[in-house]
Amino acid sequence: MGIPLPPYYLTLFLLLFISFNNVGHRNLVFADDALIEAQCHNAEVPETCIKCVKSDPRSKSADKVGIAAIIITCLSNKATTLVNNMTTLASGARDKNLKAALRGCEKGFYYAKTNLTAAKNRLKGKEYDQTNHLVEQALEGEVVCKMNVGALRYNFSSSVTFDMGVYEELSTAVMRIVDRFV
Ligand SMILES: *[C@@H]1O[C@H](CO)[C@@H](O)[C@H](O)[C@H]1NC(C)=O
Ligand SMILES: *[C@@H]1O[C@H](CO)[C@@H](O)[C@H](O)[C@H]1NC(C)=O
Ligand SMILES: *[C@@H]1O[C@H](CO)[C@@H](O)[C@H](O)[C@H]1NC(C)=O
Repeated sequence: MGIPLPPYYLTLFLLLFISFNNVGHRNLVFADDALIEAQCHNAEVPETCIKCVKSDPRSKSADKVGIAAIIITCLSNKATTLVNNMTTLASGARDKNLKAALRGCEKGFYYAKTNLTAAKNRLKGKEYDQTNHLVEQALEGEVVCKMNVGALRYNFSSSVTFDMGVYEELSTAVMRIVDRFV
């Protein structure tokens, strides 16, 4: 090469070279705050999405697909909490219809966890349509629960209502993110 380059070009090249070697090609884009915010940007409530992603230590080295996987993990954790809450509420319910509806909710969130585990595997396999189909099925359990319990004029406590709201927000957030992979 006949063109003399200023020394800082060499430094820059060296730095790029080092980061290429350390990181590999797949994860060139790290989930810094900017990437997390960009991915959560289209969510109805970006703060809920951002909070979930940042709560996971893997977010520091996650790419876009990694961020989606983290959100699915948050959903699965929420579903676990809600299964426990529905179990408690169902065993305490006196009204037969309400008890049955709450048992239905418990089952719904239990199956949602199965759907979300399957969704995570589909995501890993780059089967994005299937990923979203499963997230949607997992959301259906929550929607049906809310409808059935609401029809009995029963109000969940504010913390359960809040968790169900977060569950809906994270579901739509991850589906919008995954939609953009297709
Ligand atoms: C819901 O379940 C979680 C986890 O078991 C528990 O920490 C929380 O107190 C429960 N909330 C209600 C309102 O029962
Ligand atoms: C998803 O959940 C539904 C119930 O809501 C269940 O019938 C179906 O088998 C589940 N699919 C997977 C792959 O987990
Ligand atoms: C449930 O909440 C609604 C509105 O938030 C209220 O009007 C209603 O009285 C509550 N029902 C019960 C059984 O607490």
